[in-house]
Amino acid sequence: MNLLLIITGSIAAKKCKKIVSELSKKKIIIDIIVTNSAKKIIDINPLKKIIKGKIYLDSSEKRKKMLHIRLARKASLIVVCPATANIIAKYSNGYADDLASTTLIASDKQIVFVPAMNVEMWNNNINLRNVKKVLENGAEFIGPDYGKLSCGETGLGRLSNENKIIQIIYDNLKNTHKLKNKNCIVTAGPTIEEIDSVRYISNYSSGKQGYEIAKQLILSGANVTLVSGPTNLQPPTKTKIIKVKTAKEMNRVVQKYNKFDIAIFTAAVSDISPIKTTNKKIKKNQLKNIILKNNPDIIKNFSKKTFKKNNLIIGFAAETNNHILNAKEKMISKGCDLIVVNKINKINNVFNSDYNRVSIIDKTKIEHFKKMTKKNVAKILVNKIINIYMDK
Ligand code: C5P
Repeated sequence: MNLLLIITGSIAAKKCKKIVSELSKKKIIIDIIVTNSAKKIIDINPLKKIIKGKIYLDSSEKRKKMLHIRLARKASLIVVCPATANIIAKYSNGYADDLASTTLIASDKQIVFVPAMNVEMWNNNINLRNVKKVLENGAEFIGPDYGKLSCGETGLGRLSNENKIIQIIYDNLKNTHKLKNKNCIVTAGPTIEEIDSVRYISNYSSGKQGYEIAKQLILSGANVTLVSGPTNLQPPTKTKIIKVKTAKEMNRVVQKYNKFDIAIFTAAVSDISPIKTTNKKIKKNQLKNIILKNNPDIIKNFSKKTFKKNNLIIGFAAETNNHILNAKEKMISKGCDLIVVNKINKINNVFNSDYNRVSIIDKTKIEHFKKMTKKNVAKILVNKIINIYMDK
């Protein structure tokens, strides 16, 4: 397991030695970036002796080109400890002006911030807004805790207890392997059903929710095949992407897929398509004569087949009325173990948004969640999947 630790310039940087030393005893390979201001606070030589990885300073990138990319890719997890108001502000606003901030922005991994600063700095609305943005982007925070601060004042801003930090980092690192060797298929995005050379039937789906789920599965160590309708999104690194256009094509790809552990169907498949298409433009007055047919129900076809035990089939349902009841019926009729439902209305306009408000329904219970980013919905769902596998 590879940890990238970023030490920034809070006086609490002095407490890092214990954290580094305990995690190294657990056979974790640690690389460390020390920012210029942290370098003025700590002596890096004792850390060098403890870790199996290397220590990098801001100047290291001059010698090793693309170091920020290499460090971001090598890490299983990135922890910023201690995290100053400055590094939180930089990350929250997309700054990339030194090795630490460039690596954070280039990262495709889980990031954990462990703040330590003066109480007024922490409680400053500007800092709290930055923290909120960082949380919405899927990063996690440990602390800060309430107590006596290095500056002599008392309040929220203390670095959390080192043993707690060590435990959370270790648990997070273990999470990066929990779905190792699990084969997952995720469908995402809309499908497009051609009417003629200029027109089509489709829907507003952006594919964002499915892509975020694929990313979280990858972060938990799974092998992910993403079957995507047309979107403008960048597939997460390490996913096998199969691009399709129509429901028929998506169905063909999915039904071929027999060796799977987890199948998640987030795609907003068009329910209908014209029985025939033409490469000419249909005259306006002929459009009302178009005959439509139902598209294949991809989940239903998939869940009808017999697979090995211990697999999971997860559906999505976007409903405007009786959403829970309709979703429950859908879960059963489509042969899903679990269904994620979003009630579509003016307040929760899910399509193309970065936010979603969902309920997760399984055979025994319903869990309702507040509105959150699609990234955080994906994290909740993947944690749920991990828990299901841990119980099996
Ligand atoms: O029936 P409805 O479209 O509301 O069901 C939504 C769920 O079914 C989603 O998980 C979607 O990906 C899946 N679906 C499918 N094939 C279809 C239509 C929907 O797999 N033709």
